[in-house]
This record gives sequence, structure tokens and C-alpha cells, in this order.
Amino acid sequence: MTYVVTAYCDTCKYTDCVEVCPVEAFHEGPTMLYINPETCIDCDVCVAQCPVEAIYPEDQVPDQWKDYVATNASECKNYPTISEKKDPLPTARTLDEIKAAGG
Ligand code: SF4
Ligand code: F3S
Repeated sequence: MTYVVTAYCDTCKYTDCVEVCPVEAFHEGPTMLYINPETCIDCDVCVAQCPVEAIYPEDQVPDQWKDYVATNASECKNYPTISEKKDPLPTARTLDEIKAAGG
């Protein structure tokens, strides 16, 4: 299995997740992060770190975001790994703000 970064990371990139990953499974794209399914060891520690609840185990990704499973697997190959936290994007919103805007 693997874990998957989904929609709420897009335009946010809080990057709290990367500091706890023991295997550098996160790759940084321009607007969001992607988890490399070949690297992820399913440890689950990143899930609780994301302030916008963007990370799911592959078998629990909500239906509307299932495409992100394939997107993480393909896009991670295009970008370098990231293991140190950095400032979020200026467009980052809180979970409440995202939900109030309808996702
Ligand atoms: Fe890294 Fe563990 Fe999250 Fe996989 S589940 S991306 S290994 S922190
Ligand atoms: Fe994205 Fe959440 Fe990590 S917003 S960068 S998945 S902490």
C-alpha cells in the first residue's frame, strides 16, 4: 500500500508532514506535495501532522479524490524529495477556510 496526498494540500504546502517521514517519501511539486509509493512504508505518522488533513492511506482516500492515487505515483517522479519544513505557500488556507469555501 502507500499513503496519498490529496486536494487540500494543493495551493497550501504546509510541509509539517515531511519532517516526520522516516524515509523521505515526500516530493515537492510547484503547488503540492506527492508521496512516492515505492518509498512509503505505511507508518501513518504524517497523517496527524497535516493541518488540513490532506493525507490518507491509499485504501481510505475519499471517492472524489481517488485520482490522486495515480497522480502521486506519477508526479513524484518529476520532482525532488523534500525532508525539511519550509514556509507554506501564500495561498495556504486553514481547514475551516477550505471547508467554508466548499473545498
Ligand atoms: Fe512517510 Fe510514513 Fe507518511 Fe509514508 S505514511 S509518507 S512513510 S510518514
Ligand atoms: Fe501538504 Fe499537509 Fe504536507 S498541506 S505539505 S500534506 S502538511
